[in-house]
Amino acid sequence: MKAIVLAGGTGSRLFPSTKAVSKQLLPIYDKPMIYYPLAVVFKAQIKEVLLITTPEDQPAFQRLLADGKQWGVHLQYAIQEQPNGIAEALSIGAEFLAGEDVLLILGDNIFYGEGLQKHLNKAKITLEEISKGTIFAHEVECPQRYGVAVFDEQGEPQFIEEKPQNPQSNFVITGLYCYPNLVVEQATKLTPSTRGELEITDINNYLLKEGLLEVVTFKPGFTWLDTGTHESLLKATQFVHTLEKRHGIKIGCLEEIALSNKWISPHQLLYWAAGFSNSSYGKYLVNKYQNKV
Ligand code: G1P
Repeated sequence: MKAIVLAGGTGSRLFPSTKAVSKQLLPIYDKPMIYYPLAVVFKAQIKEVLLITTPEDQPAFQRLLADGKQWGVHLQYAIQEQPNGIAEALSIGAEFLAGEDVLLILGDNIFYGEGLQKHLNKAKITLEEISKGTIFAHEVECPQRYGVAVFDEQGEPQFIEEKPQNPQSNFVITGLYCYPNLVVEQATKLTPSTRGELEITDINNYLLKEGLLEVVTFKPGFTWLDTGTHESLLKATQFVHTLEKRHGIKIGCLEEIALSNKWISPHQLLYWAAGFSNSSYGKYLVNKYQNKV
């Protein structure tokens, strides 16, 4: 299984902050936003990763993340020329995937909660054993902004409605999609929606109709943040800050996850962290792991 992280888009809802910098490179407290979805990919034990960006932003991402060797992964890059929609990531990534299943994650989505690891493991097993994909729903107060899941009386998902004016439920689809490879071909058949995008919701509805998709709901205590507006960006920063300070942990700490996956040694972690030991992020790593070598 391989992973695609989509970090395209103009970030226009965050102008002027995103006029010269990609939204997904803005800081969420002590690290760039893109670290958080990458952390989910690492937690899913996936080492082959494709990062899709705009042409202008690609060099900045490469400066930050390079080829991923520092975490023991293989990071490649591709371009989305125009913000043509999330589903286009599947066609852009077709060659990279080379027939393998895919974990697709949006570069501005943050997932945090106890069940995450279990959910990822289960989604992978579901794909391997019964070739079914998994998407994740979360209950929100304003579902209008998202893809909304519509359930029947037995609680079975019927279809997803993209940004409905009158949502039929409060459960929305988050930006984490675990798919069988057949979605790649399906993505090439899509036509743009009324908002001019190739909709990931159309892929989800296709899979649902074919009986090839599980919709798993995150428990109420689970945290899912999307960071598309100034308000939500601030909320995400406050959330990460509070948790990290209170518990003395780091969320989205790629070096730490790579170490716990045994992709790198404590020695490699410290070597890398020495490069940014002036920051609290670097200091955390040095303090925590200097006695482990
Ligand atoms: C996209 C999807 C939507 C999903 C959301 C999650 O919305 O189209 O179905 O609920 O991501 O962040 P967009 O970011 O294009 O507004």
